[in-house]
Amino acid sequence: MNDAPREQWASRMGFVLAAVGSAVGLGNMWRFPYFAAENGGAAFVFLYLLMVALVGLPIMLAEFAIGRGSKKSPIQALEYFGGPAWKPLGVLFVLGGFLILSYYAVVAGWTLRYAWQAVVAGFGGDLGAFFGQAASGPDAVGWHIAFMLVTVTIVAGGIRGGIERSAVILMPLLFFIVVGLAIFAATLPGAGAGYAFYLKMDFSAILSFRVLTEATSQAFFSLSLGMGAMLTYSSYLSRDDNMPRESVIIAGSDFLIAFLAGLMVFPLIFALGLAGDVSEDQIGALFIALPGAFGEMGAVGRPVGILFFFALLVGALTSAISLLEVVVSAIIDNWSWPRRRAALVMGVLITLAGIPSALNTNVLGVVDQIAGNLILAVGALSLAIFVGWVMPDPIGEVRKGAEGVRWLPVWRAFLRYAVPPLLTVILYFSVRSTIGMIRGLFGG
Ligand code: TRP
Repeated sequence: MNDAPREQWASRMGFVLAAVGSAVGLGNMWRFPYFAAENGGAAFVFLYLLMVALVGLPIMLAEFAIGRGSKKSPIQALEYFGGPAWKPLGVLFVLGGFLILSYYAVVAGWTLRYAWQAVVAGFGGDLGAFFGQAASGPDAVGWHIAFMLVTVTIVAGGIRGGIERSAVILMPLLFFIVVGLAIFAATLPGAGAGYAFYLKMDFSAILSFRVLTEATSQAFFSLSLGMGAMLTYSSYLSRDDNMPRESVIIAGSDFLIAFLAGLMVFPLIFALGLAGDVSEDQIGALFIALPGAFGEMGAVGRPVGILFFFALLVGALTSAISLLEVVVSAIIDNWSWPRRRAALVMGVLITLAGIPSALNTNVLGVVDQIAGNLILAVGALSLAIFVGWVMPDPIGEVRKGAEGVRWLPVWRAFLRYAVPPLLTVILYFSVRSTIGMIRGLFGG
């Protein structure tokens, strides 16, 4: 049995850094720069910011209202405010966390391997072949397991001793590395060409439903929304913080790191004339073109490579921690397991569930589409309806600690009338691309 009182963050700063840690991850440093470069450059960046403000922030605040208001893990939190009919949505959240972590840890495992390689040997030789070996097969399984081991260890350490402590140390470090590397990249001869590739302004590219959908689902993924991660973290808040302000800080930091990642990645690649590798595919860009650049940069390439992959690894780790915490907190509350057992057992199950993704990148892509895209769209739409229409007094909850904030009624009106229609469109496109992808997998 687990009769211990509910854990709490030690400080406001600890909560904010943990939430930023959840948000900042592979999505920022890997997916965002590529989406932007391929879909309208600076125009995409504006569209993305707009979606963060219009749907990201309202949904984040919605998760915070449920989490802090109930002080429960997702399944019980939804039941607390909405009755038993809403429990299945909580179950979907937990399943989403389980599935996302299963493949996220595989890509994080590649990152761990590259960080290790940067430290022990640097990059040289045939990096395409190196990536091929790292990306799928027995090697990928091994590094996936290693990464999950670290994640489980930290989550088993608890909210203060594990999650908060690691975020307080790692997140400032990540920030300084990314800023430092972006400044270094600006001094390289290819910087101008890199910026041009990243940010060339093309407004015609963003006038499509596909790009709108991509921007929105990228915003959810990057901000860790739509499956109860922010809900779970805010359930460990003790005092009544100013949640509107905190959500702006968290979303702002997340955007800043994503934007800076582009300013760091493209000049590095273009400095060495490796742009040809970039356009081929997204995955290859980070794991083939960049190591190629580090390998050819001479003496500085080594420390730059180490710092880059270390930062990427830190981002992946603090995000993976939040995904596992959603599952673990639900198990602790529903089955009264002690934290360590919950972390270990769920960690093992998630590791096993990730093995198909580690053996086949097509499987990884499909699980990403279903869990990282479709489930998040369903989750975000349901959250907007739940807090907009079902939860008794969300404004009253958020107002605690934020007495001076005047626009909370606007926030709820948004959740009621604006977010659901928009997300219904997004969901429609997400369903369509999921079906297309599954058909493609079977060659149909
Ligand atoms: N936000 C993280 C990233 O950008 C990934 C992540 C962590 C996530 N927790 C989540 C995505 C919850 C969706 C839901 O890499």
